[in-house]
Amino acid sequence: MALQRTFSIIKPDATKRNLTGKIVAKFEEAGLRVVASKRIHLSKAQAGEFYAVHAERPFYDELCEFMASAPIVAQVLEGEDAIAKNREVMGATNPADAAPGTIRAEFAESVGENSVHGSDAPETAAVEIAYFFSGLELVG
Ligand code: CMP
Repeated sequence: MALQRTFSIIKPDATKRNLTGKIVAKFEEAGLRVVASKRIHLSKAQAGEFYAVHAERPFYDELCEFMASAPIVAQVLEGEDAIAKNREVMGATNPADAAPGTIRAEFAESVGENSVHGSDAPETAAVEIAYFFSGLELVG
């Protein structure tokens, strides 16, 4: 497997609790390299655009409110098999199902406030990276 890039968000529940460094350490310990990073405060409309694929879900409005409730840290992670590796390090969406030692098992508060987002496929990674970063901002 060649080097791959994936997109990650450290969510408001984690930035509010000052967990950014602890979460980045988990990525780095797993062999993922941060090749782009920015801390930003999304508007609810921007959060809605990013999560448009979930627009029909019952939790969509709550998700957009939450993602706009405090700063996030948007990042691009690079490594061997980075998409799968990042999903492994994050753990299951619902922290109640997340394996011990994963980010969500250790830090997430609920299925909604689950500390991190990660791309689920190469196509979504490309779209999500381009939503937040220009090519010039990706520095391997
Ligand atoms: P994420 O990986 O960012 O992708 C979509 C997000 O929707 C997910 O993480 C959760 O934060 C959120 N989500 C998924 N299921 C639920 C749910 N049942 N209730 C509230 N939020 C949810």
